[in-house]
Amino acid sequence: MPRIVRHHQTGPIKIDPNAPPGDPTAWPRDEQGNLKKISICACGLSARFPFCDGAHKCLNEDPGHVYRYDPQTREVIDKRPEPPASP
Ligand code: FES
Repeated sequence: MPRIVRHHQTGPIKIDPNAPPGDPTAWPRDEQGNLKKISICACGLSARFPFCDGAHKCLNEDPGHVYRYDPQTREVIDKRPEPPASP
């Protein structure tokens, strides 16, 4: 289902495998220091964007509607019928 997500960045988000642990651009590592598999958020609701934080699990959307969520609470604040696709 489509949803309207507001992003404020105007450029890419850097993920650096060489950044030190704790650096916000660092790629997550396991206890042995190996690069971990990561999931990239595709729903747009993650508080840790671009990483998935599981927020997508709250989605329970009806087909044929466009949703907008409160970015803090992740509650649905608007639900409208989906407009027809452009040709
Ligand atoms: S895909 Fe967006 S939080 Fe998981």
